[in-house]
Amino acid sequence: MTGKNGHTPRLIAPGGTIGILGGGQLGRMLANAGSAMGYRFVALDPTPDCPMGQVSRQITAAYDDEAAARELAAQCDVITYEFENVDAGVAAMLTKEAYVPQGSALLHTTQHRLREKRAIEAAGATVAPYREITSVESLAQAVSELGLPAVFKTATGGYDGKGQWVIRSADEIEEAYATLSKAGTELVLEQFIPFQKEISVIAARSSNGEIKAFPAAENIHVNNILHLSIVPARIEASVAEEAERLAVAIAEGLGAVGLIAVEMFVTEDGRLFVNELAPRPHNSGHYTMEASKTSQFEQHIRAICGLPLGDAGLLTPVVMVNVLGQHVEPTVARLSIRDEAAEDLGVTPKLHLYGKKDAVKGRKMGHVNVLADSTEAALRWIEESGIWNEENKSRKV
Ligand SMILES: Nc1ncnc2c1ncn2[C@@H]1O[C@H](COP(=O)(O)OP(=O)(O)O)[C@@H](O)[C@H]1O
Ligand SMILES: [Mg+2]
Repeated sequence: MTGKNGHTPRLIAPGGTIGILGGGQLGRMLANAGSAMGYRFVALDPTPDCPMGQVSRQITAAYDDEAAARELAAQCDVITYEFENVDAGVAAMLTKEAYVPQGSALLHTTQHRLREKRAIEAAGATVAPYREITSVESLAQAVSELGLPAVFKTATGGYDGKGQWVIRSADEIEEAYATLSKAGTELVLEQFIPFQKEISVIAARSSNGEIKAFPAAENIHVNNILHLSIVPARIEASVAEEAERLAVAIAEGLGAVGLIAVEMFVTEDGRLFVNELAPRPHNSGHYTMEASKTSQFEQHIRAICGLPLGDAGLLTPVVMVNVLGQHVEPTVARLSIRDEAAEDLGVTPKLHLYGKKDAVKGRKMGHVNVLADSTEAALRWIEESGIWNEENKSRKV
C-alpha cells in the first residue's frame, strides 16, 4: 500500500532512530516516550540545549538549513516534526531523500486556514461560515453577508490568538484590514460562533491506515492561551461521540499519518463546528501522559513507525493545567512539599517541566496533570492552590 504521501509504509522497529524537526517541549515529550520504547532521537533546532536537546542528541541549526536537514536524514531512519510551519523547501527535500511517513501534503493543507477549511468540509465536517478576503471592499462585503461579530484572521502564521481581530462594529473594518493585511498573507473572515464550549479530539492514523481517537478534552483558554483541559469533557455523551467520529473522518479524509488534533466549538444545541487542525501532538492532549493507557506521544511514534496503535482509553478523570512563566515558582514550591489539600481531595498532581531557561510571563514552561476521582476534585485543587488566581479571575466559564 502506498499512502497519499507517496511513501510505502515501513516498519521502524524499536532500536531505530527518529529525527524531529523542532526541539521544543513536544519534541522533548516525544523523545521521552519513544526512548522508553527503545528508540533513539535526534533533534534539529536552532537553540543550543533546547528542551528536546536536553534528553536526546541535537543538530543545532536553523529550520530552513537544508544541509542540516540532510544531516538529520543521514542519522535517522524516520523523520517527523513537532511544529507545522516547516519550511517548504526542507519538507520537499526530506520527503525525497528521507523516510517522512507524514509526507508534506498534510503540512501544506494545515499551514493555511483556507486550504484547511476546504479539506475539513471535504471530510464531511462543518466549519464556521467564512469568506476569503482580498481587499477592504471584500471585507466589507463579507461582514454584510456573515454579520457581526466576526473573526478576521491571517491565513498563515497565527497562533495563541495572534494574527486575529474580532470585528464587533463596521467602524473597525478599515483598521482591521490595514492591520492584518500587513502580514502579507491571505486573509479569511469567519462568522463568530457563540460556542458553549471548546473541545478538541486528537486522532492518530498509522502509516498502515489504522485509526484511533483519544476522548474529547474540554478546553478553557485565558488570554487566548490554553489554561485547562478537562477530561472527560462536560458535554453530552452523544456530542463527544460525534466529535470523536469527526476527528476520525478528518484523519481518514486528509490521509494523515501520525497525530492530528481537531479543535471544535460546541454550541448550546449540541452542534459541532471544526475550528482548526494541528498535525502534531497538541497541548490539549498532554493529559494522556498519565491519564490514558497510551499517551499521545507514544501513539504518534507508533503511528509513524508502523507499530499497532495503542489503546487510547482513559484510566482516570484528569484536568491538565498549563504552567506559564508566572506560575513556575509557585508550582515548584507547592509540589516540592507534602500537599495535604491534594491528599484530602484525593488528587494526584503530576508536574511536567520543559527545561526552558527564561520563565517569561505567558510562555509555556510546563503543565500539571491533576489526576482525580472526578474532574470537580481536580478543579477544586487547582483553585485552592491559588497559583492560577489571575486565570480564575479572567476566565469566563
Ligand atoms: N469563528 C470563531 N467564533 C468564535 N470564536 C472564535 C472563532 N475563531 C476563533 N475563536 C476563538 O479564538 C481562539 C483562537 O482561534 P484559533 O483559530 O484557534 O487560532 P490559534 O491559531 O491562535 O489557536 C479560539 O480558541 C476561540 O476561542
Ligand atoms: Mg487554536
